[in-house]
Amino acid sequence: MGKGFYVSKLVLAVGIIFTVAAVSTIIALAVVYSQERAKNNDVAKPPEETTTTSSTSTSTATTVQSNDPWNKYRLPTTLKPIHYDVELQPYLEKNAAGLYVFHGKSSAFFLCNTATDLILIHSNKLNHTKFNNFDAKLMEGTKEVALKGTFFQKDKQFLVVQVAESLQAGKEYSLYTEFIGELADDLAGFYRSEYVEDNVTKIIATTQMQAPDARKAFPCFDEPAMKATFSITLKYKKPYKAMSNMQDIETKTEGDWMITKFDKTPKMSTYLVAFIVSEFESIGNDGNDTVTGVKIWGRKKAIVDEKQGEYALSVTKPILDFFEKYYRTPYPLPKSDQVALPDFSAGAMENWGLVTYRETALLFDENVSSIGNKERVVTVVAHELAHQWFGNLVTIRWWNDLWLNEGFASYVEYLGADEAEPDWNIKDLIVLNDVHRVMAVDALASSHPLTSKEEEVNSPSEISALFDSIAYSKGASVIRMLSEFLTEPLFVNGLASYLKGFEYDNTVYSDLWTHLQMAVDNQTAVQLPLPIKDIMDTWVLQMGFPVVKIDTATGIVTQKHFLLDPDSVVTRPSPFDYKWIVPISFQISGKNDHIWLQKESDTVDKFKITGNDWLLVNLNVIGYYRVNYDDNNWNRLLNQLQSDHKLVPVINRAQIIDDAFNLARAKQLGITKALDTTKYISADREYMPWQAALSGLSYFTQMFDRTEVFGSMKKYMKKQVIPLFEHFKNVTSNWTIRPLSLTDQYCEINTLSTACSYDVEECLEFASKLFNAWMVPPFTNNIHPNLRTNVYCTAVAQGGEEEWNFLWDRFQETDIAQEADKLRAALACSKEPWILNRLLEYSLDSTKIRRQDAVSTISSVVNNPIGQSLAWDFVRANWKTLYSMFGESSFSFGNLIERVSRRFSTDFELEQLMQFKNDNQNPGFGTASQALEQSIEKTKANRNWVNENKAAVKKWFEDAILP
Ligand SMILES: *[C@@H]1O[C@H](CO)[C@@H](O)[C@H](O)[C@H]1NC(C)=O
Ligand SMILES: *[C@@H]1O[C@H](CO)[C@@H](O)[C@H](O)[C@H]1NC(C)=O
Ligand SMILES: *[C@@H]1O[C@H](CO)[C@@H](O)[C@H](O)[C@H]1NC(C)=O
Ligand SMILES: *[C@@H]1O[C@H](CO)[C@@H](O)[C@H](O)[C@H]1NC(C)=O
Ligand SMILES: [Zn+2]
Repeated sequence: MGKGFYVSKLVLAVGIIFTVAAVSTIIALAVVYSQERAKNNDVAKPPEETTTTSSTSTSTATTVQSNDPWNKYRLPTTLKPIHYDVELQPYLEKNAAGLYVFHGKSSAFFLCNTATDLILIHSNKLNHTKFNNFDAKLMEGTKEVALKGTFFQKDKQFLVVQVAESLQAGKEYSLYTEFIGELADDLAGFYRSEYVEDNVTKIIATTQMQAPDARKAFPCFDEPAMKATFSITLKYKKPYKAMSNMQDIETKTEGDWMITKFDKTPKMSTYLVAFIVSEFESIGNDGNDTVTGVKIWGRKKAIVDEKQGEYALSVTKPILDFFEKYYRTPYPLPKSDQVALPDFSAGAMENWGLVTYRETALLFDENVSSIGNKERVVTVVAHELAHQWFGNLVTIRWWNDLWLNEGFASYVEYLGADEAEPDWNIKDLIVLNDVHRVMAVDALASSHPLTSKEEEVNSPSEISALFDSIAYSKGASVIRMLSEFLTEPLFVNGLASYLKGFEYDNTVYSDLWTHLQMAVDNQTAVQLPLPIKDIMDTWVLQMGFPVVKIDTATGIVTQKHFLLDPDSVVTRPSPFDYKWIVPISFQISGKNDHIWLQKESDTVDKFKITGNDWLLVNLNVIGYYRVNYDDNNWNRLLNQLQSDHKLVPVINRAQIIDDAFNLARAKQLGITKALDTTKYISADREYMPWQAALSGLSYFTQMFDRTEVFGSMKKYMKKQVIPLFEHFKNVTSNWTIRPLSLTDQYCEINTLSTACSYDVEECLEFASKLFNAWMVPPFTNNIHPNLRTNVYCTAVAQGGEEEWNFLWDRFQETDIAQEADKLRAALACSKEPWILNRLLEYSLDSTKIRRQDAVSTISSVVNNPIGQSLAWDFVRANWKTLYSMFGESSFSFGNLIERVSRRFSTDFELEQLMQFKNDNQNPGFGTASQALEQSIEKTKANRNWVNENKAAVKKWFEDAILP
């Protein structure tokens, strides 16, 4: 889902930034993805291959065998769609039965490839009008063709049309249908969304077709390879406006109704069709013969009054122009609309020419939004625009190759964003946001390869399950690695030839390898040890990634499948026995070089080191692997960091820390060596290494923040952060101006949140001062948006009831989602148990906190060490209520169990968790069942880890704070 299921990288990043006492990113990611999956599972019926369809069929079906074509999910290849004429008429008022509905008329034109008496076309949740007792009318030109029967196979979502006499190969037919569908608020197909403006509830009719929901808007051959052209007509009332993939070519009036026809689309997949009826306003231009029209759409208040679309408008055209050049292919459509929808389920969706976004992914308000919000807008816009070619013009043949579509867009979004914000160095951030983050997931024995077999992906829920962090972030990581070892000019040559070769058509992932190989064979400067396919197969056909270990005494380099839990058992077989073809770039004595590791083990003379030289492997973390060294080289690297860290590239400083902490978790490196990598950090001023250190240390915080270890850990953190605090205080003139670069702004945010959480006095005073100024009527908030999360939280933690009530009132008042989230999170920072208990009570009162935010509110209380046990008591006491509210449907339910048990590491806590499980067999745990089992496992692992390491960690922190 383009970013249909796009996960807010930033939301996750911010989670880490702001909750120092937090965040196992593994779980965070897994949960967000399973959210999307769970959502779809609600919609999708379980596969019922073995049952017959007689119960769901109407009229003519008799006893139907399970191997009938309509009992399979996939369409037969007998028919090939050519064109659709679709007219849709949404009613934006309730009908007599209290439903919002839409009426539709559609002609699907198709070519008969092979003679057949059966037409299978997708239709889901549509009530079809009957013609002579049939659910559709079949035409050959203007001549009606006789039917034998029609029925619905609801489970496979087909309208089945049986023809009296066989259709003939080579002939064109059209299937005419009229239907009524519900315009439900289910975020799928043609659906309804609502918002309040000027005290009036406004309705929007909009679409989300990916993955297989176009069939819920009109009958269609709903598979990505079934490309056709579409002529869309919308019927709607004034003062609404209509939009679709193409520009409008004609509008007529018919009584109360306006009828707008849109130009015929190019050949495209059904999942990219879009249309919207709304009262939205826009900024931007219409375009003409020479210039592509670019517009940003949204609520009138956001677009016209508050000008929240200006930032998106300023970046969209440059990004579109960049991709035209990068792909060497003109933008295929005359216009590109970007639409911000209130309460959009996904992050964004790359509908061709009519991209839809969640408001937070498109709108930006200088006065309220932080730099993180801005990064999110520019990267999501770039991601969706990247798909306009890669995905929309050239489309995967079937969903099993989704990773190529999403991985590619998730890589080039950084290139597009870099074009729009050239001063940000945003390309570096892929290492934190994608590479390191997905490695945490991909290092588990339960991971899976990028590819899956076409025949293994059939049902809607199997399709939804593909939209996960492996597809997006690992896909992006390996494509980035490929682009780097080919060099960008070669990569771009191959890419352009791939796009040209398959425009308006479909591909499998290896088609891209073929075209890249042609680009390689076309020149001599870049030599590969093996064909691209052979190299890439090792990265896409097996799960996980290697840890490359170099012994600088012998020059021996080895690779081994990296597993975060050394006790885990890998049961999934691999065609390469978990060996990879590894591109190894490295630096010795300031010189860069590279080799290929093609075997399990090799000896490389260049890796033998004498003296004080150090070897640094995987420059800028281009390769998708972790690196370990012999002790001597670790020590030489650590010495270099201590003496002059700037000689180690900034991305590699983050890598050294992240690798060390992960190797320690996997018991491949001593825990104190991992901690040693943070010693030099007080001298570093860069975001990436600091972020790596904070996320490495967050596990220590979770395990120890309620134990005697924490005293010295806190002193250590304070000692490390103070120089950074002084630095930023200086460069920001006492926190009054923001640093220029993106990463410096993030680093400033990290600095303040770390300093304030570890009680740096000056930080606490600074936060209180800003907050107190705000508390003076008329309550003007002059706190910079970047600093708000930390200032709010710190002030509430330091303050009492008055501060809390003040923030609560602001929370009730605001109608800006980004601000409401910041305020709500801060409400959980109080140190007063009774206030935290009150917040917990409020979380279940939907007049106070929206139901969708209940679980995340309880989770933020958990993040607070004082709130931890209160929240656990609360969850146990209210389990039945929580279960009835969220248990059956909500993904976030599993998240809740994970969060509430995150700090558990003692036998006592383990017992409590088991007791909780036993006490609640009725009602049970619903969607949280798996999370509960995982929490029990994790508590055991935490207990073992704490037992093994507590003494050493305590001693390390005590030594580290000695003067
Ligand atoms: C479709 O038909 C069913 C059964 O008659 C009915 O319950 C449902 O409300 C109808 N849907 C719409 C959108 O009219
Ligand atoms: C909005 O509507 C409510 C209820 O109808 C009314 O009490 C309130 O005064 C209205 N507010 C404004 C600003 O019109
Ligand atoms: C097309 O639109 C652009 C921007 O609005 C304008 O600068 C240009 O002159 C127009 N060209 C034509 C041929 O109308
Ligand atoms: C082959 O090289 C020529 C000249 O550099 C270039 O124009 C052409 O696009 C290349 N073809 C491919 C498939 O990369
Ligand atoms: Zn995408």
